[in-house]
Amino acid sequence: MKDVLENTLLETSSDIRINTPIDYNIVKQKIAESKLPCVGKASIREIRSLINAIEKASGKKFIRMEMGVPGLPASEIGINAEIEALKKGIANLYPEIEGIPELKREISRFVKLFLDIDVQEKSCIPCTGSTSGSFVTFLTLARTNKEKDTVLFLDPGFPVHKMQLRVLGIKQDNIDVYKFRGEKLLEVLEEKLKAGNISCLLYSNPNNPSWICFTEKELKIIGELCQKYDVIPIEDLAYFNMDFRKDYSKPGKEPHQPSVSKYCKNYMILVSGSKIFSYAGQRIGCIVISDSLFNRDYPDLTRFYSSSNFGHTMIYGSAYTVSAGVTHSTQYAFAALLKAVNDGELDFIKEVKVYGERAKKMKKMFLENGFRIVYDHDDGDPIADGFYFTVAYEGYTGEDLVEQLLYYGISAISLSNTGSLRKEGIRACVSLVMDSQLPELEERLKLFHENHKN
Ligand SMILES: Cc1ncc(COP(=O)(O)O)c(C=O)c1O
Repeated sequence: MKDVLENTLLETSSDIRINTPIDYNIVKQKIAESKLPCVGKASIREIRSLINAIEKASGKKFIRMEMGVPGLPASEIGINAEIEALKKGIANLYPEIEGIPELKREISRFVKLFLDIDVQEKSCIPCTGSTSGSFVTFLTLARTNKEKDTVLFLDPGFPVHKMQLRVLGIKQDNIDVYKFRGEKLLEVLEEKLKAGNISCLLYSNPNNPSWICFTEKELKIIGELCQKYDVIPIEDLAYFNMDFRKDYSKPGKEPHQPSVSKYCKNYMILVSGSKIFSYAGQRIGCIVISDSLFNRDYPDLTRFYSSSNFGHTMIYGSAYTVSAGVTHSTQYAFAALLKAVNDGELDFIKEVKVYGERAKKMKKMFLENGFRIVYDHDDGDPIADGFYFTVAYEGYTGEDLVEQLLYYGISAISLSNTGSLRKEGIRACVSLVMDSQLPELEERLKLFHENHKN
């Protein structure tokens, strides 16, 4: 693929070098200075600092699609609740590790009203962002059974989860679901689970980076196989209810976002305040453990913890050792936000829908300029428009494409570190792209296509 790129450069090099929105030499120089062995393989944070350097040197703004951060202001309800709690004097007090009662109550109500599942308040615990929730979860689940030493990802996925397992020294395996949607998932998943070494599996829904959403049929397959092979599914709902094709916004009313929790007894759900409430800076989320799993005993846990009880260990073994509780004031913010949503006073879907509308416009621009969507369907139906989408351009790998787009003032990440087998893909995040930048994006994509089409 590098050869293709070199040849393209030789044939049309003068055009490309003169005719790029960002000065060719500045981009080249900043790439060299970054010392990155391969820009396309760089992590999100490395790409971010490279773009910052190019923007500074060139004086030109990029269309920033590399990082999945909220592009909306944080919800006022949360900020006010947090200020009020601080003024009441909670800052000097250690919060209970299991979470403040107000928050536990609202989490339990939230999953009842929006997923139609019954989980006792005791089994709903806060975490310092869903990232810490998955860390604590992996840490505990990987120690429940000494025969089960591996975590399975249904990919593509969030690169940090993979990094967490490397840091924790836990083995990982994956299935890229690209070719295994619908019924096809059953065989490939059963093959992995029946080996007996998988403790838990994780997927996000809607999915980062591809925005595919598992269908009810697929979640039934996952749940039933997990039940059969005693594997714990971890449903990462960082983008809770953000499949805008259906109206999931009414508390206690059908339809509800499909969930694995309908199809097995032992499951975990991770919810994040970062995207649904644009509250990423305050690092808040929660772990929902099914009652059956919470109450379960795993004798192997006593190799590391004082108790064999799963719920007790999650709280007083893992969450305690990692952070000894979650920021006190932020718990009040999350409780107030969830309460407003549960009471029907805050429609967070209405607020974040703007991402879907923007994705629709941006995807159209990519498609009109020679790109195609990589993960493009949900078991036959076109995928939803949301926070992310994946694109490819004929003749380029995702890694090459990330680098080439830098000359056009467009930043993204390649799919190579997401567990995807689609070497051609890149992930675009819509959240930081301003509506006012859309005409510029279109112009840049047109020029890219002019310079790169065969
Ligand atoms: C799929 C997925 N899971 C988890 C997270 C982490 O969320 P938090 O900010 O709550 O740690 C993200 C953030 O981008 C994500 O995309």
